[in-house]
Amino acid sequence: MGFLYRKLIRRILFNFNPELVHDAVIKGARAAQGLEVVNSLVALLARARNFPVTTAGLKFRNPVGLAAGFDKNCEAARILAGLGFGYLELGTVTLRPQPGNPKPRVFRLRENKAIINRMGFNNVGAWDAARSLEKMLPLSIPIGISIGKNADCSMEQAPQNYLDALKIMYPFGDYFAINISSPNTLQLRTLHGEEKLRRLVEPMLSFAAGQKQVKPFFVKMAPDLDEAAIDTVVELAVAMGFGLITTNTTIKRDAVPEYWRSYEGGLSGLPLKAPSNAVLARVVSLAKGRVPIIGSGGIFDGAGALEKLELGADLVQLYSGLIYEGPFLVKEILKYLERSNWRSPSSVK
Ligand SMILES: Cc1cc2nc3c(=O)[nH]c(=O)nc-3n(C[C@H](O)[C@H](O)[C@H](O)COP(=O)(O)O)c2cc1C
Repeated sequence: MGFLYRKLIRRILFNFNPELVHDAVIKGARAAQGLEVVNSLVALLARARNFPVTTAGLKFRNPVGLAAGFDKNCEAARILAGLGFGYLELGTVTLRPQPGNPKPRVFRLRENKAIINRMGFNNVGAWDAARSLEKMLPLSIPIGISIGKNADCSMEQAPQNYLDALKIMYPFGDYFAINISSPNTLQLRTLHGEEKLRRLVEPMLSFAAGQKQVKPFFVKMAPDLDEAAIDTVVELAVAMGFGLITTNTTIKRDAVPEYWRSYEGGLSGLPLKAPSNAVLARVVSLAKGRVPIIGSGGIFDGAGALEKLELGADLVQLYSGLIYEGPFLVKEILKYLERSNWRSPSSVK
């Protein structure tokens, strides 16, 4: 199936504007998942062995998740779950709906197996996202919801803006990813600073602590941090008890041709693998076993996923790989893990 995608379907899809294709795929998936026969067929084609993982107090059937940004409005979770993912991270959702940045805002770097995007959290807002998701629940796998800040909200008001979105989405997620690392919202990445991050996360953790079900949180980090900045976030994660996702997209362009330097936005895909793995390795060295860690960035095959798991990630997640390698990438990765005799340390008694 992967072969068919790479040889034929990708060639057709790549003739069209990336965002147009993406929107059509999401719309098609949304319509198709209403038919039980389609969900069953997809699940049958993508069927794979289970690799149980327990982390952050949640049980996953395998460690390979969908990264945030693919299903920003929580519309297609049912059919995406059928592709074999161990979990889905939906969003990023903001409190109020917003259009995002002017188009075009997504670019394929085909020769580099990469994407540059400056979407800017275009989404329908927390209320509509919650309504869509509610209709699809319960799903067979854990659902993470990524939360971000509205572009028209000041940095001073950011903690309240995130908290208000969280309160709406809380009943519908199994975990929450606090997105402080998109390069496409002005000043968002300043939230990696110790005081700002504490002020942001504290109200969300205390809200969760007051609920019947206390759910886990992750902070999604940028790959463009120096060691001191990484250490600050990790120390706070250990002290406050939230997990870490390493990493979001990079603003660096050293791994791609000169031509792309003038394109603003976050770079994802193969060139992100090395920088995000470097952050992952540092986070693991400081916090392995003390907080859950998710590796994200540049997974295109089983070897790429295994590399992050062997570096010490509890879970991994991917986005760009799905665009370049097709919807059966998860199955291919799980087959590779099987051939490699991989087992999650959490499943070994
Ligand atoms: C078009 C596009 C949109 C994205 N939107 C989001 C988003 O809304 N929230 C987020 O946390 N990450 C977003 N990401 C980043 C991905 O979740 C992921 O962390 C990153 O792309 C690295 O993984 P990859 O190399 O497998 O794509 C986006 C990535 C792409 C390519």
